Amino acid sequence: MDRWEPDPARARLGDRSLFPDLEAFAYLNHAAISPPSTEVRRAVDTLLADYARRGVAAFGGWRDQRERLRARLARLIGASPDDLAFVSSTTRSVVDVALCFPWKPSDRVLCLRGEFPTNVTPWQRAAETFDLELVFLDASDFATDAGLAKLDAELERGLTLVAVSAVQFQTGLRMPVEAIARRCRAAGAQVFVDAIQAVGAVPVDVRAWGVDYLGCGSHKWLMGLEGAGFVYVRPERAPELVPRVAGWLSHEEPLSFLFEGEGNLRYDRPIRADPTFLESGAINGAGFAALEASVALIEGIGADAIFAHVSRYHDALEPALVERGFDSERSPDPSRRSGILALRPPRDVDLPALWRALNGRGVACTIPDGRLRFAPHWPNALDEVPGVIEALDESLAEVRG
Ligand SMILES: Cc1ncc(COP(=O)(O)O)c(C=O)c1O
Repeated sequence: MDRWEPDPARARLGDRSLFPDLEAFAYLNHAAISPPSTEVRRAVDTLLADYARRGVAAFGGWRDQRERLRARLARLIGASPDDLAFVSSTTRSVVDVALCFPWKPSDRVLCLRGEFPTNVTPWQRAAETFDLELVFLDASDFATDAGLAKLDAELERGLTLVAVSAVQFQTGLRMPVEAIARRCRAAGAQVFVDAIQAVGAVPVDVRAWGVDYLGCGSHKWLMGLEGAGFVYVRPERAPELVPRVAGWLSHEEPLSFLFEGEGNLRYDRPIRADPTFLESGAINGAGFAALEASVALIEGIGADAIFAHVSRYHDALEPALVERGFDSERSPDPSRRSGILALRPPRDVDLPALWRALNGRGVACTIPDGRLRFAPHWPNALDEVPGVIEALDESLAEVRG
């Protein structure tokens, strides 16, 4: 294997020197897709060069690299490496659990209106396939304790599983996952967390939360590439899963027929009872090399320090928007805040036009579900904020004509 080690010391809060090609002067789209740092590019370049020279002989070294990554990801979310499986996306993690869950007919699943469809569609498909009942609450109810009261009422009616995002993608509301999981555990229900809007930006601790499943992709707050993600499965849940999505790499000793001579090609080897049975076929090595590089940088700074930094950025930006008539969705409660600052525009502002105008002035942001969304991360400097406000004023003048 070509030598490559991630270098956690290279990241510094507010310093974007690892992103020399980034065009926007304020890149505030980490809740969408992060640009690759030079460390990420170096990891992928090294992997490609290694495969280019050695082909299959490069495989083993990069498989070992993924085990190093598994340990890093486990540290980041408070899990053991044995409880993680690599998957291709957040969506894939939900699909896999929804298909492999040991459902009984008429089991009830709770989803939240307002969530990103990743954490709804697979449960709808499972409901149809396994004859389940799907019920909904509003994610926005969880801005106060009203949501928990409504959850209690649903738990009393009987729930098998609750599907929730750790952070809502359009409002930035950080959900009270620990309180949700505590109630679910007491009532015998399980919890699946879509964590792609959380991991890397806010502290995450699956053990303290007491959740059963957590799925996450790498291209947002983890700052990797698209097409690489992971799923956490609580240890006691793994053997309960029905391996409906198993593939050739899900068996015990799946490679022995390739490396250990004749007589090892068998189809009756047991499927592994740990979450790695979900690693069912060839894996996106470049995506996971990239992910280790980006996660190492995040580890080097620390999730608490990153959350404090993005909170300071939001503290500087939010009042200027509110003064200009925007309605902020940021929670007054710091424990419900995240890396996302989302605001509804004044009535006389055409939001898509404003978005185009801001992007044209070097402020990269998005407009999910009618909100103007800003999502800074560790490389964003606080001294960008006056420029963002200036671009906002010019953009507002432009769209109002
Ligand atoms: C909350 C949430 N979940 C899931 C996704 C999609 O994740 P993936 O593409 O990894 O399935 C997104 C955004 O794209 C999201 O905001």
